[in-house]
Amino acid sequence: MDDLLKKIAEIKEMIISAINASKDENDIRAIKENLLSKKSEFSALGRYFRELSVEERIEFGQALNVAKEDIANRLSEKEKALLETLAEKKLKKERLDVTLPGYRYEDGGINPLLEVQDEILSIFVSMGYEVYEGPDIESDYYNFERMNIPFDHPAREMQDSFYLDKTSLMRSHTSPAQARMMDMKKGEPFRVVCPGKCFRRDDDDATHSHQFMQIEGLVIDRGISLADLKGTLELFLKKLFGEKREIRLRGSYFPFTEPSVEVDISCAECGGKGCSICKNTGFIEVLGAGMVHPNVLKMGGYNPNVYSGFAFGVGLDRIAMLKYGISDIRDLYTNDHRFVEQFKKGRF
Ligand code: FA5
Repeated sequence: MDDLLKKIAEIKEMIISAINASKDENDIRAIKENLLSKKSEFSALGRYFRELSVEERIEFGQALNVAKEDIANRLSEKEKALLETLAEKKLKKERLDVTLPGYRYEDGGINPLLEVQDEILSIFVSMGYEVYEGPDIESDYYNFERMNIPFDHPAREMQDSFYLDKTSLMRSHTSPAQARMMDMKKGEPFRVVCPGKCFRRDDDDATHSHQFMQIEGLVIDRGISLADLKGTLELFLKKLFGEKREIRLRGSYFPFTEPSVEVDISCAECGGKGCSICKNTGFIEVLGAGMVHPNVLKMGGYNPNVYSGFAFGVGLDRIAMLKYGISDIRDLYTNDHRFVEQFKKGRF
């Protein structure tokens, strides 16, 4: 009997020292699985009951129960202690120092390009124009063919763009939106402005970017004349740049308009007298325009003997630069917070 009691004590000591040495939940799990499972040496002690007398069984059973209880208590104390250390460690790791200064989140500003785009669109919407945005990726058909620029036309040289495959490209101007609108309107008169991004293989410098923005304008109806174009653009440019600005039309060439004009406004810097900004001409070029070419009307399903129209294409970047005195177009695209900061609402 004494041997058995000694055995109980030895196994208990072994288990308790394992419990004391355990460092984490994995050690505890290993103790439960190896030292306290049904197949463990401790559980196997039960087999001695068969060999004992009734009195011995009582003594042996009591000793076994005391050992079991002792082990269970030590185990739960250890588990509790481990949990507490774990929680403490976690707390230390995730400790929040509320006295540290917080992060400062700056309010963003709207890019001047979008500011100017909104302003121009609202001027035209107030004149009854609808707004349509064509796709940035265009087909050769809409970008060139429908603009009266067939495959071998030299005007393609001026608008070399980024091709995705032989028939699709990043649009080189917003003019293809004209053709898309004509297709949608199916011979009905309309007026529309189409803002959007354009892409050209131009070398980047202070006044050119490989990506820039335009707003296209198109009016088609019976009896539309060059006088309507001039009146509309005069009203638009005066609203945008101020009543004192003069506007000037110069003959030009675009394959999709006939006649075609370049439109200039008087220089705000010198009031038309001539200075370095306007290169001593007194005027600054702001957009291209003209009467819609009969071929473009025909391809769009409009009879040029019944309908006529005018179209214009404004370079938004140049307008924004003129309006806000920005000297380098690249500032509009480099996302420098300090630059955009200057155009927060209410500054102008
Ligand atoms: C055109 O793109 C014509 N589609 C405009 C038009 C529409 C004319 C309807 C007649 C009727 P142009 O290539 O000149 O024309 O470009 C128009 C404007 O886009 C320019 O005046 C300029 O302000 C802007 N632009 C052109 N290329 C660039 C560039 N690389 N970087 C910045 N702005 C540019």
